[in-house]
Amino acid sequence: MINLPQRPRRNRKNATIRSLVQENSVTVNDLIFPLFLTEGKNKRSEITSMPNIYRYSSDLLLKEIESCLKLGLNTFCLFPSLNDKLKDKKATESSNKKGLYPSTIKEIKKKFPEAIIMTDVAMDPYSSDGHDGFVKNGQILNDETLDILAKMALVQAEAGADIIGPSDMMDGRVGFIREALDDNGFTDVSIMSYTAKYASAFYGPFRDALDSAPKFGDKKTYQMDPANSREALLEADLDFNEGADFLMVKPALSYLDVIKLLNDNFNLPIAAYNVSGEYAMVKAAAEKKWIDGDKIRDEILLSIKRAGASVILTYFAKEFALSKK
Ligand code: PBG
Repeated sequence: MINLPQRPRRNRKNATIRSLVQENSVTVNDLIFPLFLTEGKNKRSEITSMPNIYRYSSDLLLKEIESCLKLGLNTFCLFPSLNDKLKDKKATESSNKKGLYPSTIKEIKKKFPEAIIMTDVAMDPYSSDGHDGFVKNGQILNDETLDILAKMALVQAEAGADIIGPSDMMDGRVGFIREALDDNGFTDVSIMSYTAKYASAFYGPFRDALDSAPKFGDKKTYQMDPANSREALLEADLDFNEGADFLMVKPALSYLDVIKLLNDNFNLPIAAYNVSGEYAMVKAAAEKKWIDGDKIRDEILLSIKRAGASVILTYFAKEFALSKK
């Protein structure tokens, strides 16, 4: 025998030992399931580029949430898909207390108080320009957008939202929203900031789902350059100081280094958004039987956890929960 004092294979020799030395694992408790809400009754339409993911009318969304809760999947992030007629330059519908989004949140919290509801704060689902901020003369105006975002967040908090999720990437929005929430008595409502949200091509299927692609230009004046990671530390510093409760990195897979960077440098829970394009790629290849979709899903989620995210937003959440039953 060759003299090898260290033989790492000893700790891999059977499944029990492997599980004994396993450093990371994913459970349903780590996951947030993004759900798409649409107008109407008894309506469910599949998103073409996201097999098995649907836009639900509120009655069916409640049923979907109920079936997730039975699987132990308790946290949801809601996105509204609105008719173009409701969209305008100022995203007026986003602060309509009687609108589809807040009224559905109210219904969910009434029926399932144990469900945790995270919202989306950004103008794009409501904007006729398809941008996350207020557009004037082709520019996305930062400070003018903050008022709109804060109003939107307040309506969501009043409706019963547990976690507010600003996904807009305007400067100063976390502090601005935190102050608005606190001034109105919502000190217990959390903020999960989309801290390092990159200008990414991986959002394509999501924009199909909401029909929310920008009508002109791109999002590069507010979302981050995929070439940068030090800049993520700057964003994280700001969000930390402005009162964020979670720091999120988005997308997840091409940004595992950024997840690790934030986890190494900040004592807040780190979240990662395993986005629509990441889901679509796995589903498309699995459909062609080029990969084993279930095994790839589990490996992807594990890699995001290992990189340092304790919370994962993922379209795989329900099928992962089902696979554990
Ligand atoms: C926009 C928003 C986007 C996503 C969540 N919120 C897309 C974008 O910035 O254009 C993407 C989520 C996904 O791709 O799964 N506020």
